[in-house]
Amino acid sequence: MTFESPPALMVGWCLSNAAVTVVGGGVVAERRVHALLQADARVKLIAPTLSNTLQQLAHTRRVHWRGRRAKPEDIVGQRALVVAIDDSIAARHLASLARDQGVLVHVADDPEWCDFVFPAVYQEGDLTIGVASNGRAPALAARLRDHLARALPPGAAAAVTRFGELRDNVRRAWPGKQQMQRRMTWLTKVAKAMSWAELATLPKERNGAPNPLRITDVDPDLPVRSEREGSVTLVGAGPGDPDLLTVAAHRAVRDADLVLADRLVSPEILSLVQGRLFVARKLPGAADHAQAELEDLMVEGAQRGLRVVRLKNGDPMVFGRAGEELDRLTHAGIPATVVPGVSSVLAAPGLAALPLTQRGISQRIVISPGHAANDGPLSVPRFEPKTTFVFLMAVRNLPRLLQALLEQGFPGEAPAALLSDASLPNSQTIQAPVQSLLEAARDHQVCPPAVLVIGDVVLALANQKSNQPSHSESMNRHQETPFLGSPTDSSSQRDLFPRKAMVS
Ligand SMILES: C[S@@+](CC[C@H](N)C(=O)[O-])C[C@H]1O[C@@H](n2cnc3c(N)ncnc32)[C@H](O)[C@@H]1O
Repeated sequence: MTFESPPALMVGWCLSNAAVTVVGGGVVAERRVHALLQADARVKLIAPTLSNTLQQLAHTRRVHWRGRRAKPEDIVGQRALVVAIDDSIAARHLASLARDQGVLVHVADDPEWCDFVFPAVYQEGDLTIGVASNGRAPALAARLRDHLARALPPGAAAAVTRFGELRDNVRRAWPGKQQMQRRMTWLTKVAKAMSWAELATLPKERNGAPNPLRITDVDPDLPVRSEREGSVTLVGAGPGDPDLLTVAAHRAVRDADLVLADRLVSPEILSLVQGRLFVARKLPGAADHAQAELEDLMVEGAQRGLRVVRLKNGDPMVFGRAGEELDRLTHAGIPATVVPGVSSVLAAPGLAALPLTQRGISQRIVISPGHAANDGPLSVPRFEPKTTFVFLMAVRNLPRLLQALLEQGFPGEAPAALLSDASLPNSQTIQAPVQSLLEAARDHQVCPPAVLVIGDVVLALANQKSNQPSHSESMNRHQETPFLGSPTDSSSQRDLFPRKAMVS
């Protein structure tokens, strides 16, 4: 590889049980031998003398050592030759003999005589990260490798392994070449949508493999209480902080035999459950399946005489599919009640001290979803002055949503705020005019769940100096999949408003 050479193609070379000769007994040879052994190669080591570490490896027969100088026959039948000796003429001579026989060569510190390079590697389980510098700055590559390894999200390696199992399972569920596109699309969505913690702990089937089509952790052996009539209560869990549960919700959750919770319900609230608990896992493209499964379980639980609580984030009647569930219960002849909850529509602005209506500024509120079901066409409200617009489920779809709003007549300079993780320790408030909100959200790595508020009422935020008090210090909620990265700051309220927007 010469100075001007193009970058090497990074590939993973499968060397399990392949014969590789390493010539040299010093520190460099030592590193190469370690890398080769990690790949499970059969290493023949040729050197009159060895470093202490290499002596150990020879002693324990992890490498086959010949205590002499290399000969041409050492190359015959090898998959690769690695030369790490000081005598560059002898090294090139060996490499040239090897190339003549079609053996790939690597001469340390001699890029021209390298058919392959050894990147600086970080390895954990099935995860391998390699950093290569085109043979020009190996020391820096190693430093970068360490930097990247430290920056890995916790559970990354476990997530890789579980995702591999999930992929095998998807192949079995949707086999054949004709379903390849479907498999790839689904897996790509899951990889983007789930947090690292969720990926690292994907639920497993009895056969030990995560199943993409079985989304809920459902226990089929529900108890039966034939002495009484079962019931279902749709309960609002509020935005996350247990302090924002109503007294009725708290009682219903505590007294339930079976709680069927949505994914967004916080662990602190789930820890109040004393009966059985199932948490829905609405994976991308499988939300309808998960919903149907939850509804089946809700009906089945009630028919077995259980007090079933369907626990939903915020208020159950706001974007919570409560209507469908009530219909299903009516058809099944099961009595249902609803315990309203504190909706994020109100809680997020409230906790940020952002009034949704204000005399002379805004006299009505329009609440809309920020995305379209099943990635269909997005329908957004038209802009109206003196109105506050609240969008839920907007973060992942933010670029498309903001574009659609501008097309519907929203002024680019309209004040907007993204209120994420309201009532939770990572809560964050980002303000920017509509036209620069996307950039601000990216800069601050805003994560779902978040409420987007647009309207002149947001200007009130810009005038506030202090942070909101943080809620529920003990809460340690699972981390949502980040919007273009991981959250770095917590409990912060930033004023991103350019001056001209503040006075507009
Ligand atoms: C499926 S909707 C359910 C809304 C819920 N029924 C309610 O009344 O808040 C989920 C959306 O609610 C919003 N949301 C829920 N919890 C939130 C929180 N703690 N902070 C900010 N937004 C939240 C987000 O927009 C999220 O995408």
